[in-house]
Amino acid sequence: MFKKILESIQTGRKRYVKISSAHLSGISYLNIGDAGLEFLEDLSGSGLKFKVRTTINPGCVDFDSAVECDPEVVEKQERIVRSLKNIGAKESLTCTPYLFDNLLRKNQKIAWAESSAALYANSIIGASTNKEGSLTALASAILGYTARTGIHLRSGRNPRILFEYNGELKDELDCGLLGYVMGLKAGAEIPYLRLKKYAGKILCYKQLLAGFGTSGSAPMVWIENLTPGFSSVKKPRRKIVLDRSELEEERRNLSEEAPRSHDGKLVFITGCPHMSLEEIKDFQGALGSVNRLSVEAWVFTSRSTYSEAFRKGLLMRLFEKGVRVFKDSCVMHCSLKKGGAHVMTNSVKAAYYLRGTFKLKTTLKSLKEFIEEYGGK
Ligand code: F3S
Repeated sequence: MFKKILESIQTGRKRYVKISSAHLSGISYLNIGDAGLEFLEDLSGSGLKFKVRTTINPGCVDFDSAVECDPEVVEKQERIVRSLKNIGAKESLTCTPYLFDNLLRKNQKIAWAESSAALYANSIIGASTNKEGSLTALASAILGYTARTGIHLRSGRNPRILFEYNGELKDELDCGLLGYVMGLKAGAEIPYLRLKKYAGKILCYKQLLAGFGTSGSAPMVWIENLTPGFSSVKKPRRKIVLDRSELEEERRNLSEEAPRSHDGKLVFITGCPHMSLEEIKDFQGALGSVNRLSVEAWVFTSRSTYSEAFRKGLLMRLFEKGVRVFKDSCVMHCSLKKGGAHVMTNSVKAAYYLRGTFKLKTTLKSLKEFIEEYGGK
C-alpha cells in the first residue's frame, strides 16, 4: 500500500513536501493501549522502514526504575519501543528532540508531532512543520514526504493576531501562563507576540510555547526579536492586549491549594517539556544551600540529557537533596495513573493534562516558589 502511495506522491509532487526529519508522538502505552501496540507490531513486522531521521516521544515508564509501575504496562511499553526501533526510530524517548537527538536547522522541512516540539522547531529554530498528528507523522516518516498544507504553503506562516503583553514575566510559570492565555484566544490562528518588558532566556519561551500548544492549535508563534525572519513578516492589524490578571486567572483555574500534609503522595514535578542541561544546572544551582527538600521533586528529561548531566556530576547533587530524575518517560507517568497524588508543578501543560487525563489535583508553582516553601532553610 505504501509503495502505491509513494508512486502517487512522486507523480504529484506539488501536493507534497519532501522532509528530512520526523518526530513521533503517541507512543505511551497509557495513551494508545493494546490496539496501538498491535498496530505498531504489525507495522514493524511488515518490513517497512523510516526514510528519514525519526525520533520518538517519551513513553510512560523509565526502564531503569520501573518498579512503581504495573509490570504489564512496563512490558507493553517495551514492546512499543522495540517495534518503533525495528522500523528505524532512534530510541530518543523525549519531547525535546531538538536539543540532542534530532537537531534542526533553519528552513528545514520536517514532520513533527508533539505540539511543544513542533512549536519550538517553527518559532525558535525557523524550521517548517505542521502540528502533525501521531499517524500523519508516522506516515510521513515512512514516506519521506508530508502534505503541502498549512505552514508549508507560502501564506501558511502569516501571523493573524498581534498579541501585546506589557506585564511582568517573573519566571518560567508566568511564561507558560502567557502562552496558555494566548492559545485560548488564538485558537488555530498564528499569533505575533510583542513583549514590552522581557528579553529573557530561551527557557521562558520553551514554557510559553508548551502552554500555547496546550490550549491553541496553531503550529507557531512569531516572537518579536527572536523568531528567524520576524522583522520581514507583515504585522497583523488585529491586536489583543493582554494583562497580568488573565495569567492569574488561569493560574487559579489550574490550581488547588497544596495540602500541608497529604495521605497520598505530595510531589513537585518539573520537566514538561523535558528539562535541558541548562535547566538542570539552573535547578541544581537554585538548590545551592538546601540540605534536603521536605517533599520529593521529580525531574523529567531525555536519555541524552540524563547521560550528559550524570557525566558532569549534576545528578548526584540533585539526588542528595531528594530529587528523583526520570528519563524515557513523561510527566504522565505510569505511577501517577493510579491516582491519589497531589502534584505541584511549574508546567501549565503538565497541570492541564494531569488534571484532565489522570484526574489529579494540581498546584502551579514556579521552581523558585517551590524551593522557598519546601527547601527547609
Ligand atoms: Fe513532554 Fe509529556 Fe510534557 S511528552 S511536553 S513531558 S506532557
